Amino acid sequence: MMTLKALQLPLVVQSPMASCTDLPFRLMGRAHGMRFAFLEMISSEALVRNVPQTAELMRTVPEDRPLGAQLVGCDPQIMGEAAAKIEALGYDVVDMNLGCPVPKIVSKGGGSMLLREPHTAEQIFRCVVRAVKRIPVTVKMRLGFSDPSGHEAAAIARIAEACGVDAISVHGRTREQGYRGVADYEAIGRVKAAVTIPVIGNGDVVDAASALRLRAVSGCDGVMLGRGALGNPWIYHQIHAALSGAPVPPPPDAVARKAALLRHVELQVQHDSWPLGPLHRVACWYFQHLPGVAEYRHQVNRVRSVEELKMVIEAFPVARSDRHFEG
Ligand SMILES: Cc1cc2nc3c(=O)[nH]c(=O)nc-3n(C[C@H](O)[C@H](O)[C@H](O)COP(=O)(O)O)c2cc1C
Repeated sequence: MMTLKALQLPLVVQSPMASCTDLPFRLMGRAHGMRFAFLEMISSEALVRNVPQTAELMRTVPEDRPLGAQLVGCDPQIMGEAAAKIEALGYDVVDMNLGCPVPKIVSKGGGSMLLREPHTAEQIFRCVVRAVKRIPVTVKMRLGFSDPSGHEAAAIARIAEACGVDAISVHGRTREQGYRGVADYEAIGRVKAAVTIPVIGNGDVVDAASALRLRAVSGCDGVMLGRGALGNPWIYHQIHAALSGAPVPPPPDAVARKAALLRHVELQVQHDSWPLGPLHRVACWYFQHLPGVAEYRHQVNRVRSVEELKMVIEAFPVARSDRHFEG
């Protein structure tokens, strides 16, 4: 049986991110020390109804482990049924989404709307915990719907704990904030203080220093990475090192970034039946903040084939000063 304790502590978890944390992204991460990742969120209804697109989102390979699946939805019975299916399919954790801010989800009562519906949230937790026999059940939430203090999340966290949920993760922003502003690590600490189950902090972790700050300020049991890992698979080794007190590996130079991006392109071609769509995004992730990226982005947006894209990537200027880690 898979338990959270079986994972090395402190937990460093890759968060679910729609249209981002697909199989090629995860395989790149695994090659650079990613230990635990989530699929992007899956609609519980679509999973129960066997919608083919959902199977596509859930594609994995044996080396892509341990791997969690996250469910979004607001019908307790359907969430329970979908959770049982996730366990039967062999995923290692089932997570419930109480953070999604997207109007399409919130207007139906799912995602972050459940922070305002503690009774429904409780029914969902009970149904999912009852439906799942062997794997851990977790909840990912925001600080609140509009109240940034963390009290809303703390109340939901207590309910989750009482229902038998194994761990929670907390994004230090409200639904109203979306992705704006700064994640509040002190407010995450208030949620941590409200329960005894492990709490994983999330928001604005972009390097070893921010991971250490999140842990120190919130007292959380682990850190969850989001956007900071896009085009930056080196972050896993950096954060593992920082959290265990080891020297943090230096950031990659532009040559290493280019090589990694070309590898990501290969993986996308190998595992995606329409790779060019996601690759337009992926190709911009790896060179962000480097000189010359504005013109490069413009070129990436115009390519119409993977071959063309590879030529644009190869042509990206790697200045001498960007090669300082070469031997
Ligand atoms: C493009 C995108 C897609 C996301 N999709 C999901 C999702 O499917 N499920 C979820 O719980 N959170 C999702 N999130 C939220 C992230 O998992 C994370 O909580 C948030 O980005 C905060 O972390 P960060 O500041 O480190 O990026 C998404 C975020 C982004 C930017």
